[in-house]
Amino acid sequence: MNKAKTGQLWGASLGPGDPGLITRRVWELLQNNDIHWTYPIRRKGAKSHALGIVTRAGLNLPAEQTALIFPMTHDVKILASYWLRAAETVLTKLQAGQDVIFLVEGDASTYSTFNHLARAVKGLDKSINIETLPGVPSYNAAAAKVSMPLADTDETVAIVPAGYGIEMIERMLEDFDTLVLLKVKPLLDDIIDLLQRRELIEHAAFVEKIGAPEERIIKDVLSLKDTKVNYLSLLLVRNPHRQRGEIIRGCRQIK
Ligand SMILES: C[S@@+](CC[C@H](N)C(=O)[O-])C[C@H]1O[C@@H](n2cnc3c(N)ncnc32)[C@H](O)[C@@H]1O
Repeated sequence: MNKAKTGQLWGASLGPGDPGLITRRVWELLQNNDIHWTYPIRRKGAKSHALGIVTRAGLNLPAEQTALIFPMTHDVKILASYWLRAAETVLTKLQAGQDVIFLVEGDASTYSTFNHLARAVKGLDKSINIETLPGVPSYNAAAAKVSMPLADTDETVAIVPAGYGIEMIERMLEDFDTLVLLKVKPLLDDIIDLLQRRELIEHAAFVEKIGAPEERIIKDVLSLKDTKVNYLSLLLVRNPHRQRGEIIRGCRQIK
């Protein structure tokens, strides 16, 4: 007996919020009515930012879609159980021959739930064909919006989840010309203090929900002190005070 053909899984990057930043490749797949849509939510009944992007794009939502729960917790055991449950849900469809697309806000290779889903699906069935479709990450859209280059010539850039803490961020200022600080919400006040102390406050920009109707761009970062911000927010910090070695025979010397 022939084994039924299994479906394919795509991790489809949608860009951070503006439907105009959806790539042509992803756009084409979203027009295909035979592909089952899945997307991440934090808890049962919660809204999906990723689904919001395609809704704003004016696309017809398929009659059947599946929300997959990825809770906001650092508890690895709890997370692993949700990754497994999501993978089992997707795998049932794939093994029935259904193609599945997983909608991802921003870029699917950058701190994305898709990586966990893809790993768990592969863990259950190595034969599944999985493709990651790249897209615009939030910080690229943010840098363009505030006209702040992330890097020029031989400058260095670091992308850091702010949860590493103030000491780590301060240490990175020695080595990087630009810091992209993600997940800043819980530490924002402490980061603002650091930026003031290091005379970098004027070289920073705060961006929240870029591309969404609620987008906020704040260049006066100090004004955010003691305020609440959304989880989907980041800080871009240029570091003009960094001491850099001279260039000898085309190579930048380390100070
Ligand atoms: C789990 S990471 C997801 C990153 C996403 N895959 C990307 O490519 O940008 C979540 C963090 O990315 C940043 N982020 C994601 N989307 C954003 C948006 N629309 N506006 C501002 N920051 C965003 C925030 O720092 C947020 O805490």
